[in-house]
Amino acid sequence: MKKIDVVATATIYEDVSELPSDVQTLMNKAVEARNQAYAPYSKFKVGAALLLENNQVILGSNQENAAYPSGMCAERVAIWKAGSDYPGVKVKQLVITASSTNTKVDRPVGPCGACRQTLSEYEINQKEPIEIYFMGEVGKVVKTASLLSLLPFSFDSTYL
Ligand code: THU
Repeated sequence: MKKIDVVATATIYEDVSELPSDVQTLMNKAVEARNQAYAPYSKFKVGAALLLENNQVILGSNQENAAYPSGMCAERVAIWKAGSDYPGVKVKQLVITASSTNTKVDRPVGPCGACRQTLSEYEINQKEPIEIYFMGEVGKVVKTASLLSLLPFSFDSTYL
């Protein structure tokens, strides 16, 4: 028996103004997406912006449904748009922001577990890491250098 450390490294920016300017631009797009979210039930709006290697930017926002589990997260809306419209084109960066009319979201909002699982398959297939930046509406921004760093011991197609 042995114990191992599973280490995830993240960079913390104090706020958006510390981000590289190209990432700030992408964050502005994620805010645009967030504003278009359909979240009448949770009042929690999420926006995601993906930068593809062909410089195309793909936006996604959460889309809720009266039958709650039929709704979908912003990140999966975005990655499925990318996979559907630009199959095989690599994803360089994913930027996420969230806000709520119930409360001020001043902490970084990372992708949920199901989104991490979904995104991981794209990262594995493209054989290049996807940089992820996530924040709330204001405040700190977290950057991780890859998706898999957010998902240790992940399940993938090699088990099948
Ligand atoms: N949501 C996302 O869009 N992304 C996440 O990673 C977490 C949660 C959405 C789903 C739902 O519409 C609302 O936020 C509240 O859970």
